[in-house]
Formats: sequence, C-alpha cells, structure tokens
Amino acid sequence: MNKNNTEAINTENTKLASDRIIELRNNNEQYFIMNGRRKTFHILTYGCQMNEHDSEKIGGMLTSIGYEETDDEKNADLVIFNTCLIRENAELKVFGKLGEVKGLKRNKPDMMVAVCGCMMQKEEIRQKLLKKFSFVDIIFGTNTIQELPRLIYNVEVNKKKSVDIIDNTELIYENMPKTRKFKYKALVNITYGCNNFCTYCVVPYVRGREKSRLPGEIINEIKMLAEDGCKEITLLGQNVNSYGNNLDNKTTFAELLYELNKIDGIERIRFMTSHPKDLTDDLIKAIKECDKVCNHVHLPVQAGSNEILKRMNRRYTKEHYLNLVEKLKKEIPDVAITTDIIVGFPGETEEDFQETIDIIKKVQYDSAFTFLYSVREGTKAAEMEDQIPDEIKHDRFDRLLDVLYPIVLERNSRCIGREYPVLVESVSRTSENYLTGRTEHFRLVHFKGSEELIGKTVNVKITNVKTFHMEGEIVEQ
Ligand code: 5AD
Ligand code: SF4
Repeated sequence: MNKNNTEAINTENTKLASDRIIELRNNNEQYFIMNGRRKTFHILTYGCQMNEHDSEKIGGMLTSIGYEETDDEKNADLVIFNTCLIRENAELKVFGKLGEVKGLKRNKPDMMVAVCGCMMQKEEIRQKLLKKFSFVDIIFGTNTIQELPRLIYNVEVNKKKSVDIIDNTELIYENMPKTRKFKYKALVNITYGCNNFCTYCVVPYVRGREKSRLPGEIINEIKMLAEDGCKEITLLGQNVNSYGNNLDNKTTFAELLYELNKIDGIERIRFMTSHPKDLTDDLIKAIKECDKVCNHVHLPVQAGSNEILKRMNRRYTKEHYLNLVEKLKKEIPDVAITTDIIVGFPGETEEDFQETIDIIKKVQYDSAFTFLYSVREGTKAAEMEDQIPDEIKHDRFDRLLDVLYPIVLERNSRCIGREYPVLVESVSRTSENYLTGRTEHFRLVHFKGSEELIGKTVNVKITNVKTFHMEGEIVEQ
C-alpha cells in the first residue's frame, strides 16, 4: 500500500472513528443509567515502555467512550492484551494467559477480548491466534490504536469480529487521549519505529520505519503535562539519538533537549534508548548543560566482541563504545551508565563472550538488562548458522551475572552516606510505611515516609544498598 492510499484510508477511518466515538459514548451513558455502573476494561501489558505508553493511549480511547478501568480482570467487560514479540518468552506468556482467559470467556460469553501490540503486526501470529483462540473479538496493531472505538462498535453493534492492522505508515496520530499511570511522571514518544535492523531484532519489522514527532507537538504535550503537575518526563524512542532525521528542518535530539529544558514545572528529563552509533558530542554537551536532563545514559552495548557486533549489524566497534563511555565520564563525572546485553548470539565463541565480560569490567555499569539470545523468525540472525545450544547460553548468562552484579552493588555502595534528591513515586509494595522513588541516576530507593510526599522531591540519605535497590532516610531540609 503506498503512502497516499494509506492516508486516504486513514482519513476515512478517522472520520468513522469520531462518529463511532459519539455513538458508543451515548450507548455507554445509557448502559450506566440502566445498570448503575460503567462498562469496565482491563489491560494486560507485556514488554517495554513503548507498550506501556500505548496502553495509556488505549486506556484513554476507552475512557473517552465511557469505559472505566478495573484491576479486576475476571469481572472486566473488555480484556485487552497489549503484546510483545521481542523474545520468545514474551510471546509464550501471552499465549499462556490467553489460554486462561479462554476459560473465563466460556463462563462469561459477553466479555470482549482484544489482542493488540507487536505480536499482532505479524500475519503468521494473527493467523495462529484466530485459529487457536477463535474467541478473540478484536485484533488491532501498533498503528491502529485510534481505530479502537470503530472496532468495538463492530463487535457490539454489528456483532462482527474486528481486525485492523496497518503494516507501515508515515502518519503520526497526535492528541490521543491518555490515562496516565502516574501523575508526577510521564512517558512521551519522540520517535516511532526503527531503521537500524539489528540482525536479532523484530522491532523494525513490527513497528515500521523510524519517524519523528514534530518538536512543536512534543513541546506542547510536555507543557500540558507540566500544567497538570507532571515533574518528570521520559522521552521514548527505539533510538532517540537519531531523532529528527526524517524531519524537514532536521532538529537534532540535542537541540530538542535544550528546548525541553526550558519548560517550567518539569524538573527531570529522561530518555530511552540511545544507540551508540548516534551518540554525538553535541548530545553529551546537551546532557551536561541542561540542568533538568538527568545524568543517566542507557547505552545498550549488546556484545563486546567486534565480530559479534558486526554480525549484529550494530555499526560500532568495542573501541568506539569504550571511547564514548570515556567521553561521557570525562564530561559528566557523576554520569550513570546502564546497558542491555545479549548472551549467546549465533556464532558467539568463548573468546567473544570474554570480550563482553571485559567491556562490563571496563565500563563498570550502574545496572544492566541481560538477555539470552532468542531466535526471532524473519530476522537475519534467525537464519545464521552456529546457533548456540541452550546449556552454553545459560552457562554464559550465569557467569555474566557473577561479574555484573558485584559491580552494580559496588557502584550502589558508593552512594552510602550521601544525600540524593528523590522524586517520590509511590508507596512501597513491600511495606505501607515505606515510599519508593528514584535518584537522578535511576537508582531505586526505599525509605520511610507518609503518602502525602508522593509527587514531591525529597532529600534522602542512603543508609544501605542491595543490587537492585537502595535504602535511606529522608533528611529534613
Ligand atoms: N534476543 C534477545 N534479546 C533481544 N533484544 C532484542 N531482540 C532480542 C533477541 N532476539 C534485547 C536487546 C534490546 C532489548 C530491548 O532487547 O538487548 O536492546
Ligand atoms: Fe531493535 Fe536495534 Fe532498532 Fe533497538 S536499534 S529497536 S535493538 S533494531
């Protein structure tokens, strides 16, 4: 489908969607009057922050037609699976849970079930789903969230199963309503899709080519968030460093940061994820100069061996990466560096693996997400010879953690006795009297305090550290 066709269809769909929104809202208002309760939805979100944010948009669309969110999946009128495809275990989890919901739907035939997200962008998986889980009423993709009211209308009013997927589009839907999980922090998309085609990764196939939002749209959204009391934003993109490449005026990510840094009310700016091949000196300067931009860079290395990096199509070398880290540490002395690492990529020898260990030791990461390589159909790496047997992958994974965790703990232990501003996020899940929040460097901190402090920035003195969190006490100012 060419761009013009896509646009024509979308314009038509958008008009239809707005008609359906009005009609569904009226129907749901009637439902509320008759039943004394609103119809409810429950979203099961799998995968990354991009998906989490998509779920906030799905929630916003549903709220705009009169639905209400519920934690109680068993009694929800609409259950939505927002799926992930990045590794096999994410996919298996979704199919397992769908099996559970199948039983639920047998006892509650009126319950609507929708499946969306990255898995649904793949034709073979949609076919498998329709065959194995024929009770699913609605299927939509990552580019068709805005069509949800029309799809619900089809099921509720026309009693038809609804499927709507657009493989790739250059359009960006702005101003979608959102139900935000947190009042004081928010996720903000700056780019969608990815052009990098790392050979292990499905993202470019399911989320399409990279496209950037206009700076004005991003600035407006963040100004509105700030007016609503939001203090921390996380800018989202598969590779935020290439922000602006497809824009006519070519605003760079560094330039965008300087603009966002001026917005009153916002205290912290985070961003995820940076690609090492596009991390420029200008960007390092922007992180250093913009007082609201957190001194934390998530810089996925994936592997330490140049041969493996080449086979992964990462387009940088170990030397380039280490040079970047050196520059970051020199320019921003207290910078926290975190990463993603894949173990057991096809062809990885013990020597290659040792190069990954070496890079961990050299960088001294503040934290890292570690993954076993997972074969993803349709990617180049899936076709490569020398796939690594599971036992070897697991053995390397365990040995990697044996090196990584003591480093992370040592980095955390440097915080003991120091005070850090912490934006209080929520009551701790483990104890009611405890609160949690993060330092600028993305370290999770637990400390005693009362609920009224949520949304405030407090100074916390660190008293104890573990590998995955720190403990501390609020210091009176
Ligand atoms: N197998 C294992 N890990 C993967 N990632 C992406 N694709 C795969 C795969 N096929 C990891 C990368 C990426 C993170 C989001 O997920 O480390 O940075
Ligand atoms: Fe996947 Fe590579 Fe794009 Fe990240 S940069 S989303 S790992 S293809």
